[in-house]
Amino acid sequence: MLYRIILFLGFFAAFQTTYAATSNCLTCHREFEDKSGPSYKITQDIHFQKGLGCVDCHGGDATLDDMDAVRAQKNWRGVPNHLQVPEFCARCHSNAKYMHNHNPMLPTDQLEKYKTSVHGKRLFRKKDMKVANCISCHTVHEINNAKAPHSSTYPLNVPFTCGKCHANAKYMKGYNIPTDQLEDFKQSVHGQALLVKKDLGAPACNSCHGNHGAAPPGVQSLAAVCGNCHAIEADLFDNSPHKVAFEENDYPMCETCHSNHKIVKPNDSFVGDKKPALCVECHSYDDGTNGLATAKAISRALSELVATQAQAKKVLDNAALKGMMTTDEEFRLNEVNQVLIHARSLVHTINADSVVAEAEKGIKKADTVKINASALIGEYYFRRKGLALATLFITILAIALYIKIKRVDKKLAGK
Ligand code: HEC
Ligand code: HEC
Ligand code: HEC
Ligand code: HEC
Ligand code: HEC
Ligand code: HEC
Ligand code: HEC
Ligand code: HEC
Ligand code: HEC
Repeated sequence: MLYRIILFLGFFAAFQTTYAATSNCLTCHREFEDKSGPSYKITQDIHFQKGLGCVDCHGGDATLDDMDAVRAQKNWRGVPNHLQVPEFCARCHSNAKYMHNHNPMLPTDQLEKYKTSVHGKRLFRKKDMKVANCISCHTVHEINNAKAPHSSTYPLNVPFTCGKCHANAKYMKGYNIPTDQLEDFKQSVHGQALLVKKDLGAPACNSCHGNHGAAPPGVQSLAAVCGNCHAIEADLFDNSPHKVAFEENDYPMCETCHSNHKIVKPNDSFVGDKKPALCVECHSYDDGTNGLATAKAISRALSELVATQAQAKKVLDNAALKGMMTTDEEFRLNEVNQVLIHARSLVHTINADSVVAEAEKGIKKADTVKINASALIGEYYFRRKGLALATLFITILAIALYIKIKRVDKKLAGK
């Protein structure tokens, strides 16, 4: 590993010096720029790392040693303004043949997709200079891919890349949209998982909004977005009566109950016929549906399972404390937990029968644990009683033996 790193660094240094030696752009710019200038930042940039130079983007001729001469070159592209950046990047990135020669795996649809986004539409149609263009999200002179931890598109950095504008109330003034997405996201299960636990499987802004089509997912695409990662819940929802009902009412599927940016960890109080249950937001006992009756039945089944599970755990803990072998029952109690997780996701069927049936399965298992753990405790006391009797017996035996030996000693002494 170390060998590889050294080899890599060696190549990199060699490459950098050859590039620097042939590029007057870099040499001259380093003379007057500070460390935050393009000529220094560029070492972090994937274009530079893959062998491209200043000329590939800006044009000019790297063998010239005068900036005015550079500007006079026919191919000089200069510096693009905010509106020109997308085409400036797309000259290469939308050129399938060119990109294929460099990296056949890279898509070449960024500009096309960008044009369909709220950002792109406003940029091109309204000449809106405040919406994101390519470099608002990718930076400039330190562009890198989503795998590089220092990159603005690395999942852990994306929320702040978007938040630069979207969490800045002053910057977003004049647009009629909230600026709480970053704050809410940070508090959500997703934000906690991504930013605190560093779980790269948790979504960043672009997982839901897309990279280049950054737009609010519409009602239709919404379930698909959440369902990419939560396939079980999405499937159960799709087969429930809520699917059609929500579509008819234009309620977004998952967001209606879970919100979008401030998704909290759900618990059993979310379902039931009393607040804070979500069901009472839309249902009442006289709304002509069996919504709340269902909610109540589901809630009751879940709490009964949770209570039985807790009792079983208490008895089992007691048995373990007494030093009994509880492995089998612990395994069974784990199964109860799996059943509980499944029963909770079945809430999305809004079908009381299926939740109740699953809950009963768990309750039966938990009861078995209770019975078996109680038996283990019984065995413990039985053994303890046995031990006490045995100890008593041995003591009596020892005393008898002692007396006997004393007598024998006396007899011998008397002789
Ligand atoms: C001999 C020194 C020198 C060389 C060689 C040089 N530059 Fe410059 N360049 C400068 C200076 C100085 C400025 C700043 C001009 C100013 O601030 O007015 C500059 C400005 C720029 C700018 C800002 C836009 C502009 O027109 O002012 C870009 C882009 C740029 N250079 C790119 C390049 C590229 C690409 C090359 C190589 C093909 C290159 N430079 C070669 C000295 C150099
Ligand atoms: C991947 C394309 C790309 C490469 C490679 C690149 N630039 Fe740039 N450069 C840009 C873009 C885009 C802008 C416009 C930035 C903006 O609008 O803020 C820019 C702006 C500039 C500017 C003016 C604004 C500033 O940031 O100071 C200078 C000077 C400059 N580049 C120099 C260089 C030099 C020197 C190199 C090589 C070391 C280089 N660039 C390599 C894309 C590139
Ligand atoms: C001269 C052509 C050219 C221009 C102009 C250009 N790029 Fe690139 N870009 C490339 C090449 C080539 C690669 C590296 C492909 C490889 O080898 O992996 C690349 C890689 C990238 C990557 C990393 C892709 C990945 O996931 O590996 C990003 C992001 C990127 N460019 C963004 C931009 C942006 C933003 C601009 C405009 C400021 C831009 N590029 C301008 C040619 C270009
Ligand atoms: C709203 C922010 C945003 C804008 C605007 C944006 N990008 Fe991206 N781009 C991203 C993110 C985030 C990724 C990382 C995707 C990932 O996780 O792999 C990405 C990925 C890329 C890639 C890697 C290949 C791919 O498609 O996944 C390239 C190349 C790229 N962008 C170029 C561009 C160009 C060119 C533009 C302008 C036309 C642009 N981007 C505009 C956010 C943006
Ligand atoms: C340079 C600032 C800037 C950056 C960076 C930026 N945006 Fe935006 N975004 C805007 C502006 C300005 C609008 C236009 C607001 C409007 O018209 O409603 C917008 C619009 C949006 C919208 C549409 C909102 C609506 O309902 O109209 C979404 C969604 C969005 N951005 C998501 C993102 C995501 C995700 C990222 C990061 C990957 C991002 N943006 C990065 C400035 C930015
Ligand atoms: C778990 C998926 C998900 C994540 C992660 C996510 N969003 Fe959203 N976002 C949504 C949904 C769903 C909507 C609402 C769409 C609707 O109602 O039409 C939305 C709406 C928006 C809007 C429109 C205005 C609003 O608040 O309704 C913006 C802007 C936005 N998101 C930006 C962001 C930013 C910035 C991040 C990262 C900090 C982010 N989103 C993370 C799913 C997500
Ligand atoms: C990129 C994958 C991904 C996407 C897209 C996604 N999630 Fe998640 N979600 C996760 C991960 C990973 C976790 C687990 C976080 C943790 O460690 O607690 C999670 C957790 C949750 C939780 C809490 C579950 C629990 O048991 O604590 C809910 C609720 C949730 N997501 C709802 C949604 C909704 C609603 C959407 C769409 C608006 C969505 N998710 C989009 C990956 C995703
Ligand atoms: C955003 C509003 C909303 C929320 C929240 C909601 N429902 Fe519904 N539900 C509806 C609508 C609308 C219908 C269709 C009613 C109709 O057919 O008249 C429906 C139908 C139902 C039905 C089918 C009723 C029947 O008689 O066919 C059940 C069962 C149900 N909901 C249970 C629940 C439960 C349990 C919860 C809480 C976990 C819940 N709902 C939360 C809006 C909601
Ligand atoms: C009618 C309201 C409602 C809708 C719509 C809804 N959920 Fe839920 N969701 C709940 C309730 C209630 C719970 C909590 C169940 C519990 O813990 O007892 C929950 C829990 C969850 C959990 C935590 C793990 C689990 O399964 O218990 C995830 C993940 C989840 N929902 C994802 C989704 C996704 C994805 C969608 C869209 C396809 C969605 N939900 C739609 C009400 C809803």
